[in-house]
Amino acid sequence: MLERIGERPKDKILEVMNVFRADPREKKIDLSVGIYRNSEGATPVMRAVKIAERRIWEEQETKAYTGLAGDPEFADAMCSLILGDDAEPPRIAAAAAPGGTGAVRQAFELIRMENPDAAVWVSSPTWPNHVSILHHLGMQMHEYRYFDGDTCSVDFPGMMEDLAGVGKGDVVLLHGCCHNPTGANLKPVEWQAVADLITAVGATPMIDIAYQGFGDGLEDDATGTRIIARSCPEALIAASCSKNFGIYRERTGLLVGIVPETVRKATVQAAFSHFNRQNYSFPPDHGARIVTMILQDSGLRTEWKSELEEMRRGMLSLREQLASELQRATASNRFGFIAEHRGMFSRLGVTSEQVQRMCERHGIYMIGDSRINIAGLNSDTVPILAQAISETCI
Ligand code: LMR
Repeated sequence: MLERIGERPKDKILEVMNVFRADPREKKIDLSVGIYRNSEGATPVMRAVKIAERRIWEEQETKAYTGLAGDPEFADAMCSLILGDDAEPPRIAAAAAPGGTGAVRQAFELIRMENPDAAVWVSSPTWPNHVSILHHLGMQMHEYRYFDGDTCSVDFPGMMEDLAGVGKGDVVLLHGCCHNPTGANLKPVEWQAVADLITAVGATPMIDIAYQGFGDGLEDDATGTRIIARSCPEALIAASCSKNFGIYRERTGLLVGIVPETVRKATVQAAFSHFNRQNYSFPPDHGARIVTMILQDSGLRTEWKSELEEMRRGMLSLREQLASELQRATASNRFGFIAEHRGMFSRLGVTSEQVQRMCERHGIYMIGDSRINIAGLNSDTVPILAQAISETCI
């Protein structure tokens, strides 16, 4: 049987990461995979995480299984981080998952099982792995307009026009904040209009929130998700702790279901646990325990928030520096949107040939659609990138 296995499509993001690693040039810049890096290019373990891990090591007395849905305290702590005062415990079902991607996968499977006719509507563009998982599961998918390549901002009228055509029972996948790959985000009033439209057409919103705290701050980045949670009768949320807690390899995520008032929460909760059991049984616990400890302990929480804020501000200042270097280098405001975008990514809106040329000539690696990871830069490499863009793309 194994001899029949053929080549699988390569992941666009991980492929660039691998080619970068294999490039022997000394001077090269990696702006590919979405991993936070500090000005020295390192991805350190966050201070609060280190302390929490030490405490867990000292205090933990067993590694026996938790529940199938993970530790309920993790779900509670994360739900209040994401939903704030909009968290209504009687309407929330939640299960820990292996990373945000694990939660996305569980949500998609749940949709397929409960409504095999449902199509999932994704933004054009979206994180390539959304599309890949949907294809893998053989699910129907449609795109709605999202990014206007000319202005490098959200095409809100186009988005609303497309969402008006969503079928009853379909699912609309939205990025909670820091849109990946574009960096262009909805304003609160636009979120409200989207929530009202999704409700009017009888669809279910699904939020993928993987960068809370990387855009405008922990609270502001949750605005869209909270609007959806309080405006729509039901919603699915896939949350990741990889980036904002810097615990990528611990695979820590949460699937949340906001349950309609007419439905028993216990039934949905049992379905979430059942899905975990079928796919991987008990979810990983170490990362979830770290997150729970940090969110529950006021000292650790303060420390974590302040480091997260340092990271966020660092990315914002790199954005501003890049936008102004580009203004100087190109004598135009063509790339002014970089300072307006939020989160780790911006899509530059240049061609894949230009991306390729920047790689060959300057050793600068970005995704083929011209997505850059802002956190892959530092104040010394920003002028190098700006120069490369102006030489290659103007
Ligand atoms: C990214 O978009 O680069 C990150 O979400 C990492 C990944 O797994 O693709």
